[in-house]
Amino acid sequence: MNNFPSVFEAINDLSKDQIEGLLILARKFKERDHDKPQFPNKLPIVANSFLENSTRTKNSFAIAIKRLGCHYLDFNTETSSLNKGESLEETLLTLYAQGVDLCIIRTSVSNQLSEFKNNTPVKIINGGDGTNQHPTQALLDLFTMQEIGIELEGKTMAIIGDCIHSRVGHSLCELLPQFGCNIILCGPSDYVPKTPEYEGVEISNDLESTVKRSDFLYTLRIQKERHAGSTEAAKHYDTYHDKYGISRDKLKAWNKEVPVFHPGPANIGVEISSDIIKSSLYKGYDQVVNSIYMRMAIITAILSNNDKNIGIIDGTRIRD
Ligand code: CP
Repeated sequence: MNNFPSVFEAINDLSKDQIEGLLILARKFKERDHDKPQFPNKLPIVANSFLENSTRTKNSFAIAIKRLGCHYLDFNTETSSLNKGESLEETLLTLYAQGVDLCIIRTSVSNQLSEFKNNTPVKIINGGDGTNQHPTQALLDLFTMQEIGIELEGKTMAIIGDCIHSRVGHSLCELLPQFGCNIILCGPSDYVPKTPEYEGVEISNDLESTVKRSDFLYTLRIQKERHAGSTEAAKHYDTYHDKYGISRDKLKAWNKEVPVFHPGPANIGVEISSDIIKSSLYKGYDQVVNSIYMRMAIITAILSNNDKNIGIIDGTRIRD
């Protein structure tokens, strides 16, 4: 794949050709014996560095790294020198000097990884940064949509929930319109932008009309940890399920028993009912299955670029 970026922070870092290349590669990984080492000569070292909680992303990257036959380093941020005041840049340069080739980073700080694009301490994949981007999630969602046979061109997907605080929502809005899919962001006015921020994306506060216009649904949890005590955001907590929760009854009543995606973690009984999660409409587990293959594809693409401009201090690389 030509010129894959060494810091993969956002969907907009990739060309459409690179996205198509990742989809092909993920499909190949799913089809073949995925335990065969991808890098037989010199095994790269890949670190997982999660500065914020995670179940799906951290574990699926760990599994993808091991299935590719790379060395895996679980970089424990809580016991690291980050807690003694060392900067993230200094930490990443130190990991690079120790031999780490790639670091998966999750952080609660939006845009924290942008500073590394021009001065890259180690190759980086964004595992989700604040409310900004979760590009690997959006790519595995696209892969899953294609895998289950959804033809995106001319279709409409509703993203329902706390859209403005959702990094997954932002990445999907940058990705799916490139494949001809229209998006409606639906939720209470405090959870959706006042005006559309992306081409091919509409805003709605009305769930019934949104669902009736949609071919498939993508539900999001209320991101309470990103509300910072906002009374506007909190006022919807108690009434959310009645007004915006997706349940089997609502979909039946509206004659719209369509696929329902969720990036997880799901708050059952809030944005999604348990009868949806336990039904064949729910695609959350397909997303988890496919997360391994898409992340194997992304790791392979980033490790295979020939970027020599990594870990440079005062014009000199700190290791060969
Ligand atoms: N989808 C997702 O990012 O889930 P985790 O927070 O569990 O990694």
